[in-house]
Amino acid sequence: MHTHPGRGLNPAEAVDLLTEARARTLLLVAPIESGDLIRQHDPLMSPIVWDLGHIAHFEEVWLVESFERGPDGSEGLRGIYNPFENPRAVRDRLPLPDPPAALAYMAEVRARALVNVMRMDPGAPDPLSRDSFAVRLVLQHEYQHGETILQTLQLKQGTPYRAPRAFHHPDPVLDVDGEAMVRVPGGVYPIGTDDRSQAYDNERPAFEVELPPYRIDRAPVSNARFLRFVDEGGYEREEFWSAEGVAWLREAGARAPKHWERRGGEWWTRTFDRVAPLDPRHPVCHVCYWEAEAFARFEGKRLPTEFEWEVAAAWDPATGRTRRFPWGDESASIVLANVDQLAFGTAPIGAYPRNVSPLGCYGMIGDVWEWTSSPFEGYPGFTAFPYPEYSEVFFGNEYRVLRGGSWATRPGAVRNTFRNWDYPIRRQIFSGLRCAADD
Ligand code: AVJ
Ligand code: FE
Repeated sequence: MHTHPGRGLNPAEAVDLLTEARARTLLLVAPIESGDLIRQHDPLMSPIVWDLGHIAHFEEVWLVESFERGPDGSEGLRGIYNPFENPRAVRDRLPLPDPPAALAYMAEVRARALVNVMRMDPGAPDPLSRDSFAVRLVLQHEYQHGETILQTLQLKQGTPYRAPRAFHHPDPVLDVDGEAMVRVPGGVYPIGTDDRSQAYDNERPAFEVELPPYRIDRAPVSNARFLRFVDEGGYEREEFWSAEGVAWLREAGARAPKHWERRGGEWWTRTFDRVAPLDPRHPVCHVCYWEAEAFARFEGKRLPTEFEWEVAAAWDPATGRTRRFPWGDESASIVLANVDQLAFGTAPIGAYPRNVSPLGCYGMIGDVWEWTSSPFEGYPGFTAFPYPEYSEVFFGNEYRVLRGGSWATRPGAVRNTFRNWDYPIRRQIFSGLRCAADD
């Protein structure tokens, strides 16, 4: 079956990528004063200094210990940085280092890691060196914690985070009709990948699924569309909500997506230090799975399965193959999609006209993670690698899969096969949706 073999990094490329990842982490935290690095801003999130120390400890395990003791010699994440022994809600009670000590630990581990990376042979037979797997693992881990830190900063009360915005979105050049849907014929389609240089274990192995014909939204759901749901009583009319959705709605008392505020009859949104009237052209962000599901029912639709989503993003009927990204095999970048954090927010739909899949879906990569109806499960033939705590311990019906990355996702941590997951009640994440329907 055709998949997308990744490639190994030569040592100089690996060093450059690690250096760049660290520069980004430090850029994100640079505007934050010491107290705000130590404090827990929300029980859903870690104190930021924990993320920093945990990034370093993860690197210590996979680029220092695993090289020195062999892949089976590491004991995994230990002590205060073990996320399972110390769930987020209790991380403010851990004996965390102060910010200078956390930064020093990051630098010290990095220096030791680079010695190993400089000698790394991506052609070596051991599965951590081969195709630079361990380097990509550590890179993607730091990238993902950057997005986590941004969720924390968006939740932070009091003095808002002064986002170091680096560029503006281009103006939308395309009027992507938000109501339009793309028809996908029924058939047998490839899903996932056999790539083991970049893909996580949960994206593997490649396999085939048979899908009945379906339709899927051409674009993510906009604020304008979601506003209609709000205005027409969507949050009061239980007919749109599943039983679990109603339970969440009653408990949360939600009336609109998170971070929407009503001011004198108008909706406003706050994105870090910027407060502005709700922009109807942007994709809706900060909705949980239950809100996404209710919205889809309001429009007489449903959420796509993760396989329907992946086919709409990746399948090229002209070649009979899948693409790594909607536009082709070129990596994600700010030229192609709203990714990579430094715009610090969503873009108007249609601002990235090349962000379109062969089947005609826009904006599948970047802007907002899109909820799918799929629980997070292993693909047929799944094997945990390199450790079961990345994916396997989360398999089951408790989580839902999200696809496509957000504006806060770094290009190296998203692709058509990438699977994110979270609890269906979560909405501090940069999450939106697109709808599907049976055809
Ligand atoms: C893939 C975003 C669900 O944050 O729990 C970070 C990423 N894994 N450190 C998470 C991750 C280990 C993971 N998600
Ligand atoms: Fe982590």
